[in-house]
Order: sequence, then C-alpha cells, then structure tokens
Amino acid sequence: MSKTVGLALLGAGTVGGGVLTLLQENADLLYAQTGKRFVVRHVVVRDLSKPRTIPIPPRVLTTDAQRAFADPKVSVVLELMGGLEPARSYIREALQRGKHVITANKLVMAVAGEELIRLAQQQRVRLLYEASVAGSLPILTALQGALAGNRITRVVGIVNSTTNFILREMERAVEANEPAETAYANALRKAQELGYAEADPTSDVEGYDAQYKTAILARLAFLQYVPVESVYREGITHLSGRDLLWAARLQMGLKLLSITERLPDGRLCARVHPTLIPREHPLYAVRGAFSGVWLQGNGFQEMFFHGFGAGARATASAVIGDLIEIARHPRPLKLEDPSLRAGETAPIDVLTMRYYLRFRAPDEASAQPLRNTLTSLGAKLYPPEVLPDGIEQVALTPPLLESDLQRQLAEWRRHTALTVQCIRLLE
Ligand SMILES: NC(=O)c1ccc[n+]([C@@H]2O[C@H](COP(=O)([O-])OP(=O)(O)OC[C@H]3O[C@@H](n4cnc5c(N)ncnc54)[C@H](OP(=O)(O)O)[C@@H]3O)[C@@H](O)[C@H]2O)c1
Repeated sequence: MSKTVGLALLGAGTVGGGVLTLLQENADLLYAQTGKRFVVRHVVVRDLSKPRTIPIPPRVLTTDAQRAFADPKVSVVLELMGGLEPARSYIREALQRGKHVITANKLVMAVAGEELIRLAQQQRVRLLYEASVAGSLPILTALQGALAGNRITRVVGIVNSTTNFILREMERAVEANEPAETAYANALRKAQELGYAEADPTSDVEGYDAQYKTAILARLAFLQYVPVESVYREGITHLSGRDLLWAARLQMGLKLLSITERLPDGRLCARVHPTLIPREHPLYAVRGAFSGVWLQGNGFQEMFFHGFGAGARATASAVIGDLIEIARHPRPLKLEDPSLRAGETAPIDVLTMRYYLRFRAPDEASAQPLRNTLTSLGAKLYPPEVLPDGIEQVALTPPLLESDLQRQLAEWRRHTALTVQCIRLLE
C-alpha cells in the first residue's frame, strides 16, 4: 500500500457523514497511527441535490458507483448505504476488483457474509465490518484479536439501541405514574420524533436488526457459521407498561437481549427476545441509545463492553478503526476464516429457563385453574391486583423446558377469558 490510500464511500448519510467528519478532523492522528494519508476520491449517493452535513466537493460526489470501482487509485471501498441490494452486489464487485471493503451493514453480513468473506479471502483483500454490530463497541475486533485465545461460553448483549431506548422510556413513564397501557405507543412515538426509530420501525421492534447482529456476533464468538434463520427472534411489540411496572416491583430490568451459548451437547443456541434481568447485572445499566455486550470466556472469565451503539460519530469510530487496521495489515492471513466452520445449532425449545407470567382474568373463578397449574409447577405467585377490568397476577416459575412451557401457554391461551404474558428470565 502506498503512502496515500484512495477511498470510495458508498453512502453519505448518518454514518457516511460521520466518517467524512472524522477523516477530516483526525487526519493527523490517522497519519501518526498508520504513516498514510487517506484521500476520499468518490462519494456515491442516490441524490446529488440533497443537502449534506459536511461539504463534499462536486467532483467527488457522484451517483455512479462504477466510476469508483474502476478507479485504480481507490484501494478501499466503504459501503455505508444499508439494505441488501445493491449493497451486496457493490461489495462483491469491489472485492472482485481487488479493493478492500469496510461495511457497516449487518443485513448484508448476516445474510451474505459467508460468500463475501470467502471472496475476500480468494482475492487476498480485507473485508471488515466492526460497525455492523453494536456501533462503536470494538467487540468483533476484540473477539478476533485480544480475546481470540479464549473459548467463549456465553455472549449476552443489548445490540439494538432503538428498542433499548423504547424500553427505558416505558420504564420512565410507569415510574412517573403515566398510564401503563399506552406506554409502548408513546415511547415508540418519542423514539421516532428523536430520530432513534424509523418511520417504519419493524426491523428494530420486531427484533430483526438484533437477529442479524446476533448471527454475526455468535459466528465470531463461537467460530461457527450461524445462519440467520437459526437465531430465535421475538420483538418487543407485545410488551406493556404493566410488564415494566412489575419488573420494577420485582427489582428487575426488562431488556431486548441477544443471547448465544454453547450447550453441553456441543450445539450452539442463539436467540433474541425480551428478557428480565436482575438490576445488579451490568447490562441493566445500559440505558437509552447505548449498547452493551457481556461475555464469558475460559480465560478472561467475564467482560463487559458498553458504549454508543449508533449515531454518526460513534459508528464512524468503528469504521475508521477498520480503516486503520487495513492500512496497517492489508493482507489477510493465509487461513480459512475460522468463523465459517460448520456446526450444529439448537432451537430455543431445548433450553430450560425460568419465566415471568403475567395473567389477567375477568374474575376469581377464571383465574383459579391457572393458579392451580402454576402452583403444581412450583411457581411463586405474587398477590393479585384488582383492576377495573378484572384481576392481574404475576408468577415466577422455576426452571422449565421451553417446549413444555410453550405447550402450556398455548393451552392457557385457548381460554378466551384469559390473557397470559410470558417473558423469559436471564439465568
Ligand atoms: N445510523 C446508525 O447509527 C448506524 C449504526 C450502525 C450501523 N449502521 C449501518 O450503516 C449503514 C448506513 O446507515 P445510515 O444510517 O448512514 O443510512 P442513511 O443515513 O440512510 O444513509 C444512506 C446513504 O446511502 C446512500 N444510498 C442509499 N442507497 C443508495 C443507492 N442505491 N445508491 C447510492 N447511494 C445510496 C444514500 O444516498 P442519499 O443521501 O442521496 O439518499 C445515503 O447517503 C447501514 O447499513 C446501517 O445499518 C448505521
């Protein structure tokens, strides 16, 4: 690599704007760290007339991605557009032309990571994607570097800051005695007003974003290829302010967690779902638009990463870290990427966990059979609360097999008079 590194940015939105800002602000620092000057030669966007947060010279701004790929002076392509296509094809094309690629795109890396990683290896170029999981947190780099000599046993993370903001906002609302029933809708609206949630929030609130990130994180932590479909996914749309109220009463926090663990039979189980955690757990302190990843390994024992999970500068920090890595080590190791090794995954059904169950019944008589079953299962029942439309009660179960619990839930839910909410506990 010469003293000057030519860059092509695909995208100049939130992350692209942050990258351009840091490249400019920290140019001397980057030179000191790498001995190289980074020159932005192309910035590819959709709309040339859109106002930009940072001035981009007109000769650099283009809608023509091919111009960037064909430029022999470009050695690194930064894909900061998002979405599956054309991002995936652009990354493929850049790699085929012998360019290094940095991407912040979890969707592409979760769905097409295997093919692209192999292509980069064949082409003897680097493909780095630190910003695709948990924004500024250097978790992927740590797993492949300083922590690589550990056998990882468990990874638990808050990897979607939009849902973390919404759940915190619901918690705040119930603490302030605002109506619990409308807490979710109000929190989502606030997240949208503040720009934390998109107009269509499906990917965040239904857990897809966290599912993609979990597939990537699990692959690198456990050195096993993890198909996205094998990651169990449940979002936060069914949660009510009542659950946050009960969580507070139980001295717990409610978070959308990404959890991956190696089971005693060797299979890998990865899942995303709302989870009640003790308030003493480090992840409870992860508030608002922050992310956190807590992990266990057989050497370091346990470790906790905490920081901004999104935003222009925070995400750009991870992208620039990848750029420095490429400038220092432009050739990949002559090794097959160990994270692509095949292995078995297990469905959530085989896990044994404790559960929080919150049920509502119109009267005592309809609540009693459910209470009887819960008592026979050894659950701890909390005193019922009389509400205008019936009785509400919460129980915490002892460890139960997920498949048994789901069968039981389906049976309870057949009784139309009952509503039963179920949330897993972190063991
Ligand atoms: N935002 C965050 O905090 C964050 C955090 C971590 C990771 N990420 C990831 O970073 C990536 C970018 O996110 P973002 O928030 O920066 O998105 P964004 O603000 O919507 O910006 C996307 C940029 O890509 C350009 N673009 C989109 N489709 C294009 C196409 N077909 N051809 C050419 N240019 C195209 C857009 O051009 P115009 O400007 O002309 O519309 C825009 O400049 C995504 O993969 C996202 O998941 C984002």
